[in-house]
Amino acid sequence: MGELSRLAVLGAGHVGPVIARLAIRAGYPVDIATSGDPEDIALITELIIPGARPRWASDAVADAGIVVLAIPLHRFGNIDPARLDGKLVVDAMNYWPASDGVLEAFEGRGSSEVVARRLAGSAVVKAFNHIGYHELEDRARPAGAPDRRAAGVAGDDPAAVATIADLADRIGYDPVRLESLRAGRVLQPGGPVFGVVLTRPDFELAVREEQRQRSLV
Ligand SMILES: NC(=O)c1ccc[n+]([C@@H]2O[C@H](COP(=O)([O-])OP(=O)(O)OC[C@H]3O[C@@H](n4cnc5c(N)ncnc54)[C@H](OP(=O)(O)O)[C@@H]3O)[C@@H](O)[C@H]2O)c1
Repeated sequence: MGELSRLAVLGAGHVGPVIARLAIRAGYPVDIATSGDPEDIALITELIIPGARPRWASDAVADAGIVVLAIPLHRFGNIDPARLDGKLVVDAMNYWPASDGVLEAFEGRGSSEVVARRLAGSAVVKAFNHIGYHELEDRARPAGAPDRRAAGVAGDDPAAVATIADLADRIGYDPVRLESLRAGRVLQPGGPVFGVVLTRPDFELAVREEQRQRSLV
């Protein structure tokens, strides 16, 4: 097995630590960061994400091959796109007007498409946004388990999608690749698989039907 890429998980709230924990279990080296001093999350990281390194976000990103955005979308504007140039970026964020406030740039659009436009030097893949953090951990299963569930992986760069599909597989999900970020709109809040954890055949049926109805592919 080749060496797995280092992950920088930005966000140590609900979903960031779960992604970090699953990735560590799968053998990935993981750094985790907030917008602040890593000292502030050192103890909690040791307790709930053993093996992860708390770091300044800029250092974590600089050393990572894969950067996971697990921060509220209304904080995304604080991320400097130049720092993410050349990185594979996993967008696990959702647009929630109730908590993000109304963000005009995201209204009526695919949130990851807006993210990708801003991160023009990165390969952006939408993944892990549609599964609640509890479920993400509880439903993870080894390959071949009969009750293994699916995770959507959408992006415009096939190699980046393949890398994140592999990550999804290694952390416990049957990846379902969607052919573009636009096609990945079906993973957003209000879509047929958001908050519903389905097996691969049911997931594929649900997304293909929605994509057909909304002419997304
Ligand atoms: N909760 C879920 O079940 C779930 C599941 C899938 C996807 N999501 C999506 O994931 C995103 C995060 O959700 P959450 O519930 O985990 O949020 P949360 O509990 O509010 O945590 C957000 C984290 O992001 C950090 N953060 C904010 N700005 C940052 C920056 N510029 N750089 C680095 N870290 C930063 C915050 O720390 P500081 O404020 O200290 O910087 C905090 O640790 C949302 O878009 C959400 O829709 C959530």
